Amino acid sequence: MDQFAEYEPRERRVGTAGDAAVAVRAATTADIDAIARVQEAAGRLAHRDAWRRAVTNPECCLLVAEAPTSTTVVGWAQTHHHTDPQDAAPAGHYLGGVTVEPAWRRGGVAVALTETRLRWVADRADEAFYVVNPTNRASIDLHRRWGFEEVLRAERLTGVEFTGGIGILMRAALR
Ligand SMILES: CC(C)(COP(=O)(O)OP(=O)(O)OC[C@H]1O[C@@H](n2cnc3c(N)ncnc32)[C@H](O)[C@@H]1OP(=O)(O)O)[C@@H](O)C(=O)NCCC(=O)NCCS
Repeated sequence: MDQFAEYEPRERRVGTAGDAAVAVRAATTADIDAIARVQEAAGRLAHRDAWRRAVTNPECCLLVAEAPTSTTVVGWAQTHHHTDPQDAAPAGHYLGGVTVEPAWRRGGVAVALTETRLRWVADRADEAFYVVNPTNRASIDLHRRWGFEEVLRAERLTGVEFTGGIGILMRAALR
């Protein structure tokens, strides 16, 4: 599976995306296997040690989304508090790692995970960032509703290097 969703833009559905019936909650160490399963189903790498550290890091928000009729984890997402800039990406709270189980996509799960993360960041900062590969148009469209705008493009952002060579730094004001 490609690590990014196929780009399939469509007319905005009123009252659907963002109204996912999934339950979003803080992740615990007991969720690490389930997060890894979502990640693997999406063709992405598992970072178990980083997730274990994130669960106990008060500077980080690690969330899971559970299916409505069970406790099956169908998506996860986190934030990173970037404090020591080594490249053009400034210090701040960054959204990262949002991944939804392929069978559960286009139902508002990522919107629910992102809305919760942005409320968490808004309690701590007046802006939020994320970095994205320019070919990941599904992700860029997902984040548009919160007013994320391109700041700059670079080969390396928050220490991340990008497939294809260039990444985009995005920023949204939260107040
Ligand atoms: C990107 C991703 C997280 C979206 O998850 P999702 O739960 O399907 O997203 P939602 O249902 O909440 O979609 C919200 C909006 O995002 C945009 N979007 C999501 N998937 C899209 C796609 N495949 N093509 C175009 N737009 C898309 C749309 O604007 C959508 O609203 P709409 O359904 O009303 O058109 C998911 O496709 C995924 O896990 N991709 C692989 C991991 C990844 O790329 N993560 C982001 C890294 S920066």
